[in-house]
Amino acid sequence: MKTTTYKNRRNKLLEMMQEGVALIPSALLQIRSNDTEFPFRQDTSFYYLSGFDEPECLLLLCKNDKESKSIIFLREKNPEMEMWVGKRLGVMDAAIHLDVNEAYDISKLEEYLPKLLEAHSNLYTDTFSDNIYLNKAKKVCQSLLSSRTVHISPKNFLHLPSILEKQRLIKEDYEIEQIKKALGITEKAHHAAMAMAGEGKNEFEIQALIEYIFKKEGSKHDAYGSIVAGGNNANTLHYIENSMPLKEGDLMLIDAGCEWNYYASDITRTTPVNGKFSPAQKDLYEGILKVQEKIIQDIKPGISKLIIQEKSEILLVTLMKDLGILHGSVEEIIEKKLFKKYYPHGIGHWMGLDVHDTCPYKDEEAKDILFVKGMVLTVEPGIYLPKDDMGIPEKYRGIGIRIEDNILVTSKGCENLSIGIAKTVKEIENICQRDYKEFL
Ligand code: GLY
Ligand code: MN
Ligand code: MN
Repeated sequence: MKTTTYKNRRNKLLEMMQEGVALIPSALLQIRSNDTEFPFRQDTSFYYLSGFDEPECLLLLCKNDKESKSIIFLREKNPEMEMWVGKRLGVMDAAIHLDVNEAYDISKLEEYLPKLLEAHSNLYTDTFSDNIYLNKAKKVCQSLLSSRTVHISPKNFLHLPSILEKQRLIKEDYEIEQIKKALGITEKAHHAAMAMAGEGKNEFEIQALIEYIFKKEGSKHDAYGSIVAGGNNANTLHYIENSMPLKEGDLMLIDAGCEWNYYASDITRTTPVNGKFSPAQKDLYEGILKVQEKIIQDIKPGISKLIIQEKSEILLVTLMKDLGILHGSVEEIIEKKLFKKYYPHGIGHWMGLDVHDTCPYKDEEAKDILFVKGMVLTVEPGIYLPKDDMGIPEKYRGIGIRIEDNILVTSKGCENLSIGIAKTVKEIENICQRDYKEFL
């Protein structure tokens, strides 16, 4: 993407700021054990504003009544380190390459910060973070405050994520294209997995196939840990062990999505291991699918997540009553939250650079944020029926079903961005008959 996109985002943020300095640190390399590190993934806010994916950086957005500017601190070039672990952009090329006003060596941060921070009153940071660079900046603010020669320095700390996350809530066309690209790859992977599943195949083989397709198609990161859950394992919501053999007659719940250029996809499908839904599985599955479709139909500007949450509770409770899973009045079940045992999570969440995009659901007055064009959210109703729960009809015990799609709010309604991923009983059973190699 062009550097102007990041510059526009920085300018937008600067417009929303009062006088002051915003500090946005990159992610740091994290030790896995001894001298090995976890795979590096850039900090989302830093990436959103810079498009730069090196660790050990700090981005500053400075604003006063005369000017606004962006400054980056980053690692200096180091031929020996670059020989071992790869190229660095370096300070000299950074200002032009990243289209920022100034660039400095991160090892000089403490030396340069006092000059950059003094004369500003407001400091915008993630106030809860204990990032090393933010801590250094706070220390500098503390010493400026006690200086006899500096008269103005930052002592008003403002929570930057509250501003930035609002900005991230409305997706640009470019961002929607990235999500669509991620979903195209995720679609292939889910279809291949449906086709590969069968008696005796292990959950980890299916996971390997999904993640092979993600990588083969050029996705650098999975959007989250893949869940491949046969039978009763689907009732563990974040089952990521993925280590059991699949069984004839069971369902298989897969919740997996790749990232494309840092943008997530988040898809769940629940399909029969042997390629054919049993009558009980079909009743439950089609009931949940109807609920999901009804919720998606309702999504349009002016509706809120709370409205679709409440509707999902009424519809899923009604379904569970109709199937003899819950008993009593819908009102009482909802009032006493008795459904939570079988529908414990929310109907969906914002999605974007993070799978659970950290954007707000309420505004400053604690009112629900209403959907507007450009927002992206998941819709993922699910019912989870543990195999040892004697209170539910035997034929449903050990079944966990979730159906999850990614939805874009449009000017008049919404668009299901994952519409191409098999979802009806017929579509799924057809894919299950195919050879997984057709999808590679
Ligand atoms: N994959 C995480 C979620 O569905 O929220
Ligand atoms: Mn989700
Ligand atoms: Mn999911």
